[in-house]
Amino acid sequence: MARAWSLKSRPHGMPVHTDFAMIDLPVAVLNEGEVRIANRWLSVDPYMRGRMNDVKSYAPPFALGEAMQGGAVGEVVESRAENVAVGDMVLHMAGWRDEAVLPANQVQKLPPLAVPPQAFLGQLGMPGMTAYFGLLTVAEAKEGDVVFVSAAAGAVGSTVVQVAKARGMTVIGSAGGAEKCAWVSSLGADHVIDYKAPGSVVKKLMAAAPNGIDVYFDNVGGEHLDAALATGNLHARFAICGMIDIYNDGKPTELRYLARLIGMRIRMTGLLVSDHMHRAAEFYQEMGGWLAAGKLKSEETMFDGLDAMPDAFLGLFTGGNTGKMLVKV
Ligand SMILES: NC(=O)c1ccc[n+]([C@@H]2O[C@H](COP(=O)([O-])OP(=O)(O)OC[C@H]3O[C@@H](n4cnc5c(N)ncnc54)[C@H](OP(=O)(O)O)[C@@H]3O)[C@@H](O)[C@H]2O)c1
Repeated sequence: MARAWSLKSRPHGMPVHTDFAMIDLPVAVLNEGEVRIANRWLSVDPYMRGRMNDVKSYAPPFALGEAMQGGAVGEVVESRAENVAVGDMVLHMAGWRDEAVLPANQVQKLPPLAVPPQAFLGQLGMPGMTAYFGLLTVAEAKEGDVVFVSAAAGAVGSTVVQVAKARGMTVIGSAGGAEKCAWVSSLGADHVIDYKAPGSVVKKLMAAAPNGIDVYFDNVGGEHLDAALATGNLHARFAICGMIDIYNDGKPTELRYLARLIGMRIRMTGLLVSDHMHRAAEFYQEMGGWLAAGKLKSEETMFDGLDAMPDAFLGLFTGGNTGKMLVKV
């Protein structure tokens, strides 16, 4: 019997284990055009926290009591579709479960790049595209810019660091703890900030960027965004990608330096990766080249088995991951 995680109750603040329940999925006989997939890798992503709230947003709320969704990579084990064969590895959105039955037009065969299949949930997938298009298209970052990126040891942030270095920028990354900071340095970051060490992020960023920053890639919001506002140069560009700092409590931090937007004519732009998916071929081409040249490193934090999905998800909010957080089924 296939199993899936469902949302049992809508969390208030940080989710707890009792907000989730495992359900059995009804036995599904394949219709014409459908495939059965044995999921091998499941993604947990911070945006899923937003889908747990009953509010209208760019992604619909998870329905209580029903199988949750999310990125997944799996192997086709049965097919009634012409263009998808048994044994194909595919990417799709029916995650949080061990088996998925989907119309073939809702699955994507993995692009032909020499990486392990789970990379298409991380650096070569949605988080990687977020980093690539957020930095280069939304923030219009270019050679010579000084780029600040928060959550730099995470899936998106660690890719921002490496794309920025590959394109000739100076990079300052922020992460929580000495070990993560050392890893961010090993990716090529010119300066790292341990935001959990004593002292304010504003002061740490001012010390790391005495001549200011040209680009901020925001994954966190809060004090990090304020520090970026405090150090933004004339015509600095901010790509506002995520604000994980407020996903659970919903309370924005006071931005003491917000008025610098005016004098410095700073441009802040919200970013949604889905706006850029149609340019995936460009992304695969340039990332593929950097991969082949040995310029990209990635890391995974892996939990084992479907039962571990809530633990993996909750770990995103306590810094439990270095690189991409994944569950291996
Ligand atoms: N707009 C879009 O289309 C889009 C697409 C993908 C992702 N995102 C956003 O991008 C951000 C990163 O996503 P990801 O998938 O790459 O996750 P991730 O960075 O791999 O994982 C989350 C990391 O955030 C850090 N964090 C958690 N709570 C924090 C807090 N209160 N203050 C500072 N840091 C905190 C933790 O690292 P530390 O140990 O360093 O604290 C944690 O490891 C998220 O905000 C996500 O929502 C947006």
